Amino acid sequence: MKLKHYFSIHTLMLLITGIALNSTADDAVMDGETQYTERGCVYCHGPAGKEPVLNEYPKLAGQNMEYLLQQMLDIKSTARKNGYTGMMQPAILNISDEEFALIAAYLAEL
Ligand code: HEC
Repeated sequence: MKLKHYFSIHTLMLLITGIALNSTADDAVMDGETQYTERGCVYCHGPAGKEPVLNEYPKLAGQNMEYLLQQMLDIKSTARKNGYTGMMQPAILNISDEEFALIAAYLAEL
């Protein structure tokens, strides 16, 4: 499923909620993959979270889901502030906790 950028956040939330209520874990992983691409993560962290564009950027594939999710939340809230955190933080401001969770589940499975 492709999520188009012109969907409002409200529409997106309804979709995500629907997916969470109606689907199996496999579908959730597929949806996390779509979001990883559509939300721009791929431009910095590379295909499947394995080939970041700069060596200073982290690989994400195979990391534990709980850790990935916490880092995304901490980067968004600015609780985490490393030298390069500022590269990512402005790019993820409109991503919800639920969407981060789906992406984290996808990356952890790789
Ligand atoms: C503009 C580039 C950029 C974009 C876009 C971006 N990131 Fe990042 N990301 C970074 C950088 C740089 C870091 C390292 C931050 C630091 O040094 O604290 C990082 C760190 C992370 C971490 C923590 C990794 C660790 O090992 O601690 C996670 C998880 C993450 N990004 C996930 C994502 C996801 C998911 C998306 C898309 C929703 C995304 N990033 C979009 C550049 C980006």
